[in-house]
Amino acid sequence: MKTARKFAEELIDFCYQSPTAYHAVDQIKDILEKKRFVELDEIESWKLKAGGKYYFTRNDSGLIAFVVGSEKPEKTGFRIVGAHTDSPGFRIKPAPEMLAEGRYLRLNTEVYGGPILNTWLDRPLGIAGRVVIADKKPMQPEKMLVNINKPVCVIPNVSVHMNPDINSGYTLNKQSDTLPFLGLVKDRLEEKNFLLRLLAAELKIKTEDIIDFDLFLYDYAKGCLAGAASELISAGRIDDLEAVHAGICALSELEKPKVTCVMACFDNEEVGSSTQQGADSQILLGALERILLAQKSGREELFRALSLSFLVSADGAHAVHPNLGQKCDPTSRPTLNGGVAIKMSASKSYTSDGYSAAIFAKICEKAGVRTQRFVNRSDMRGGSTIGPISATHVSINSVDVGIPMLAMHSIRELCGVEDHAAMFTALTSFYHQ
Ligand code: CO
Repeated sequence: MKTARKFAEELIDFCYQSPTAYHAVDQIKDILEKKRFVELDEIESWKLKAGGKYYFTRNDSGLIAFVVGSEKPEKTGFRIVGAHTDSPGFRIKPAPEMLAEGRYLRLNTEVYGGPILNTWLDRPLGIAGRVVIADKKPMQPEKMLVNINKPVCVIPNVSVHMNPDINSGYTLNKQSDTLPFLGLVKDRLEEKNFLLRLLAAELKIKTEDIIDFDLFLYDYAKGCLAGAASELISAGRIDDLEAVHAGICALSELEKPKVTCVMACFDNEEVGSSTQQGADSQILLGALERILLAQKSGREELFRALSLSFLVSADGAHAVHPNLGQKCDPTSRPTLNGGVAIKMSASKSYTSDGYSAAIFAKICEKAGVRTQRFVNRSDMRGGSTIGPISATHVSINSVDVGIPMLAMHSIRELCGVEDHAAMFTALTSFYHQ
């Protein structure tokens, strides 16, 4: 096993190369291809062999990878890890160019998920996502990933002199206060299709070839190790690329497992998961059924396999805050680098119960990984994750876990170097059960 620090640096690179869910899937494919995983097409009939490593993508931003076990799933069940590829931020709207004061060119955006809005201000931002290209066949237009990895826009703050109350709490308006400023235009002609021209130049194609796009803003600055002993990871999109990275790395290193092991990377968790590539879809159940069908088993075997299966839903947990400890539960207070947190909630916003938590805690203990517990303060609602949503489609034993982090949904989140390695070890050990 590489050192925790090396693994943390790999995560920082992974987050940097994954400004959007589309790029995250592209990066995951890169890791899998290096480990000789074979890409499957959902259109084709699947031919799988024991020990074989496979993956498929859905709509470019969801991905399911698996390694076929030597035993039949109906004898062993599946071992499944789930995580999400998307992060909160800003999505660029259609016809986005907006002129202010006759010269300031801005982009019209809408908020994606629940970012901490003020962390996006005064930071040079890049633009990335997917562009759809004109083609003769209307049902199958070509798609290209694009990453304008330059500090092309900024959402500027208003000065403290013009807003003296800014430090006593100011509510940003999501339409009028948070539009990114792209630069100055010299004449009216220049403002038209400015973004399309920027994209076309980046992709070396013609402006008129671009039919549509799915584009997001992102922090231009790369993440880094932080803390006096470099024991922390400061980066964008740690929620949930940390778990995606740990899970994909754990799966990719499996060789000839007994049990069929699956890593599900869902998109759109931050906006409710109800898309074809989200956890609130048939993507996972469909994949599990197809794995059985390809081994000449049927629905009966699927249900037998599900009753023996286990899902680890891995998504960031909240660490106790150094300045605001009172926001945390009085007895369960996870700290950074204190180990993987098992998340529980009476409202079932997390799937864990005493039974599934005990199983996961024991797996961690056997692997030498420390665990902590996360629960919300009883007077706070807290967040949710893919676990409960996935459970409505694939009803199996599941546990919600995550590494403790600070500043969740900030443009720059903070987690522990040791915890990322601990998550990898825990998931590797889970796949071997
Ligand atoms: Co998350």
